[in-house]
Amino acid sequence: MKLSSRLDTIKNKVTDHYDHIWDCCCDHGQLGVALLASHPKSMIHFVDVVDELMVELESQLQKHASAIQSQWQVHCMDVAKLPLIKGKKNLIIIAGVGGDLLIELVRSIQTRNNGIELEFILCPVLHNYMVRCELIEMGFGLISETLVKENKRFYEVLHVSNQAVESMTAVGSRMWDLSDGVHQEYLNKTISHYQRMEANPKCTSRVSEQYQELIGK
Ligand SMILES: C[S@@+](CC[C@H](N)C(=O)[O-])C[C@H]1O[C@@H](n2cnc3c(N)ncnc32)[C@H](O)[C@@H]1O
Repeated sequence: MKLSSRLDTIKNKVTDHYDHIWDCCCDHGQLGVALLASHPKSMIHFVDVVDELMVELESQLQKHASAIQSQWQVHCMDVAKLPLIKGKKNLIIIAGVGGDLLIELVRSIQTRNNGIELEFILCPVLHNYMVRCELIEMGFGLISETLVKENKRFYEVLHVSNQAVESMTAVGSRMWDLSDGVHQEYLNKTISHYQRMEANPKCTSRVSEQYQELIGK
């Protein structure tokens, strides 16, 4: 099945070898299924909290087992309790959930896996500024970042690690190509969004100004 441009962007960021790749909040498992083909030497884990989805996915994977070269496992569980394999290279992908939940999950995984290398590819639905601020606060650095427009919505795909030396910024850095009309559209939309919020006298933050500074760069 053809991947959406958002999921395809995430898949294309998986260029290294990982012993374990976790497709978290996987729903029907589209991304993980694509990774089975592109990463035959990795163990692909499908993780979602909805039992019926995981039963159906497991039965589909078993049905096509002879055509699948990689190893896979299906886990019906809360991603907050992800059982990472210590001493092995893990990549954790969380996409398609709101920024608040995504950060809650990353924070829980970090707390439960203190002191080990943690590498994530993250693609929240909305609240990118808050997600970035929280990741910076948790000590994550940037591997890469990409802006994607799909079905009139914009998504930021963030590849981060607690071992990466490049700092992340709250409004994005390498992601932007302001000669591109799509990027201009997203930046203008984001500035207008924060300006509307900041028009409320109770709002004291000036996030819109941080995005506006990108235009002068
Ligand atoms: C919209 S789907 C995202 C599917 C896919 N990752 C994507 O980006 O297109 C969100 C999925 O997150 C799952 N989910 C929400 N909270 C979860 C949690 N704490 N642990 C595991 N799965 C969760 C839901 O059951 C749902 O299937």
